[in-house]
Amino acid sequence: MTDTLTVTDNRTGKTYEIPITDGTIRAMELRQIKVNDDDFGLMTYDPGYVNTASTRSAITYIDGDKGILRYRGYPIEQLAEESTFIEVAYLLLHGELPTETELNEWEHETKQHTVVHENIKRQMEAFRYDAHPMGMLTSTVAALSTFYPDAKNVKDPENRMLQIRRLIAKVPTIAAFTYRHSLGHPYTYPNNELSYTANFLSMMFKMSDNFYEPHPALVRALDVLFILHADHEQNCSTSTMRAIGSSHADPYSALAGAAAALYGPLHGGANEAVLRMLTQIGDVKNVPDFIKRVKNGEGRLMGFGHRVYKNYDPRAKIVKQVADEVFDLVGRNPLLEIALELEKIALEDDYFVSRRLYPNVDFYSGLIYQSMGLPVTMFPVMFAIPRTAGWLAQWNEMLEDPDQRIARPRQIYTGYDERDYVHLAHRRGGYLMPHGK
Ligand code: CMC
Repeated sequence: MTDTLTVTDNRTGKTYEIPITDGTIRAMELRQIKVNDDDFGLMTYDPGYVNTASTRSAITYIDGDKGILRYRGYPIEQLAEESTFIEVAYLLLHGELPTETELNEWEHETKQHTVVHENIKRQMEAFRYDAHPMGMLTSTVAALSTFYPDAKNVKDPENRMLQIRRLIAKVPTIAAFTYRHSLGHPYTYPNNELSYTANFLSMMFKMSDNFYEPHPALVRALDVLFILHADHEQNCSTSTMRAIGSSHADPYSALAGAAAALYGPLHGGANEAVLRMLTQIGDVKNVPDFIKRVKNGEGRLMGFGHRVYKNYDPRAKIVKQVADEVFDLVGRNPLLEIALELEKIALEDDYFVSRRLYPNVDFYSGLIYQSMGLPVTMFPVMFAIPRTAGWLAQWNEMLEDPDQRIARPRQIYTGYDERDYVHLAHRRGGYLMPHGK
C-alpha cells in the first residue's frame, strides 16, 4: 500500500499523485491542479475549518467519537482525580509532569507575578458599575501589553516564559477584580500564602482584613473545573490566539483576542447562556415545550452539541460529579431539576440522537458557579482563567514550529468584476445635479 492519493481532474483528464502524511494531504499540493497556465490552481473550501488541520500539535488529544480527552497523553479523568490546576498548567506548557522541585519552583515563580500595576487597577475602576466582566477582562489583558513592552520579543523562548508566568498569575487577579467591581466592593489583593485556586477564591470573596481560607472542598472543586477547562486543542479561541500570535503580536494582545473569541455564546459564553436558558424555562413542566421549540428551529439547546465530540463530552461527566459534591456543601441548585430533565429528554429524542448532540462541558458548570455565589456574567471569565494556560501553551508551540507562517486564509471571491467609479450625482437613488452642473 502506498501512502498517496491519486486524483484525476475530469476537466483535463490529467492525473496527480499526492502524498498522504499523518492522514492528511498538504493543501498546497492541490495548487498544481490547473486547467491551463493562467489558472490559479485548485483550493479547498472549508468555512469554519471543519476538516482542515491548521497545525501539528503535541499538547491535547481528542477522539470525539469515543469521548476521549488527554493532555500530553494523560487522560482527563486521571488528571481531574489526581492533579491540581497549577500542575496541569505546567504539564501543558512543558510537556511533562513536574518533579516536586520543579512544581515548587513553578508555583513560586508564578506567585511572584500575581499583583497588577496600580494603574491597571485604576483603569478597571473606570468601567461602569454594570460592565460585563468579560469585556473588562478582555480589555484589561490587552492593556497589560502596554505595561510589558518587552513582551514584543516573541522570538526569545526565555522572554516568552516570563510573559507566560505573568499572564497565568495575573489573569485570576484581573478576573477577581472584575467581580469585585460589579459588586462595588474594594478589590482584594492576592495572598501568595494560598494555593492558586484558594488565592483566587480569596480575592473573590474575602470581605475584611482578616485571613480568609476557603473551604477545601470548594478549592478542590475549582481545581477540577480549572483542569477540565485548561485546554481543548484547536477550538475557536485557541485558533484566534494562534492567528494573532502568528503575526508576532505580543501575547497580551493575542490573549485578549482569544478571550474575546471565548466570550461568544457558541463557545465559552455558553455556560452563561445555559443558565439564562434554564431560568427562562423556569419549571420542569415547561421542558417538553422548550424542546419542541428547539426542534422547530426557534433556538438551540445551549450546553449541548460540539464540533468534535459526537459522544458524551468527557468533561461534562466529571462536571456532573463535581456538581453533586458542591451541592452537598452549599445546597442543591433549584435549576438542576430542569437541567436533568432536559438532558433526559434530549438523550432519548431522535432530533438530538440523530445529530449526535450530547451535553458539553458548559451544561452543568454554570449551575456549580451559580451555587458558589457567582453571577452569570462571571461564568465565561471562569472559563478564561484556566484556558489561559492552554492558549499560552499553544502560542508557545506555534512560535517554535518551523511550519507555521502568518495565518492568512484564501477566499472565493463572489463580488463584481471590475467596473468604473460612478460619480455621486449619477448613482441610482441619489440626488441628481441639474444637467451641465
Ligand atoms: N441545539 C439544537 N440543535 C443543535 C445544537 C443545539 N445545541 N447544536 C447543533 N444543533 C443542530 C444544528 O441545528 C444542525 O442541525 P441541521 O443539520 O438540521 O441543520 C446540526 O445540529 C449540526 O450543527 P452545527 O451548527 O452544524 O454544528 P457545529 O459543529 O457547527 O456547532 C456548536 C457546534 C457547539 C457551535 C453547536 O453544537 C452549538 O451551537 N451548541 C450550543 C452552544 C454550546 O453549548 N456551545 C459550547 C460548546 S462546548 C464548550 C466550548 O467549546 O466552548
